Amino acid sequence: MIQTQVCIRTATEADAGAVRAFLAGLSPDTQYQRFFTGLGSVSPSLVRELVTVTPRQRVLLAVTGTEVVGHAMASTNAAGAVELGVVVAAGYRHRGLGTRLIRGLLEHVVDAGADRLQMDVLGENELVLEWIRRSLPETLFEPDGYTVTGHAPLTRAMIEVPVAV
Ligand SMILES: CC(C)(COP(=O)(O)OP(=O)(O)OC[C@H]1O[C@@H](n2cnc3c(N)ncnc32)[C@H](O)[C@@H]1OP(=O)(O)O)[C@@H](O)C(=O)NCCC(=O)NCCS
Repeated sequence: MIQTQVCIRTATEADAGAVRAFLAGLSPDTQYQRFFTGLGSVSPSLVRELVTVTPRQRVLLAVTGTEVVGHAMASTNAAGAVELGVVVAAGYRHRGLGTRLIRGLLEHVVDAGADRLQMDVLGENELVLEWIRRSLPETLFEPDGYTVTGHAPLTRAMIEVPVAV
């Protein structure tokens, strides 16, 4: 059996084409779960935003060969909270990639001094809501129409728990 090696690394502008192909290859349901809208033909401005790293925005990719199979982003909003977004290709799920991507982002933002997380999730996205409840039990959930916003304190202890992946 061939084992595909997936590595996690920071995105660069050179990844724009591969990220565009990744987004275009997601099912409409997955696009909706991540972006709360279908993407249609993926816009260049969205791709640019998703590969742009700044002091307030960290972007990690899961990559196998030249193919992007996961994307995660942490952006500090105007209120100082870190907003997280993550998506993994259907064929690569439930093997720890989402956890590795989020863990990588959290290590960075904790080192940078962030102390609060904000996560916007569709109210119907039970898998992710349960994941948040299990991994961040202190999260307070605030319903907002068809989405739920989770607010959680961010501490170094959270990223020191070993991850079995
Ligand atoms: C959410 C998502 C990124 C998880 O990616 P993943 O690579 O499967 O993540 P992991 O393998 O690290 O699993 C994360 C958690 O979900 C659980 N999980 C993953 N797939 C599951 C499944 N099919 N059934 C039950 N639990 C599942 C894992 O057990 C894990 O929980 P644990 O840490 O308590 O064991 C992926 O499902 C996805 O892309 N969903 C669509 C986009 C989305 O909903 N994004 C979130 C809003 S921004």
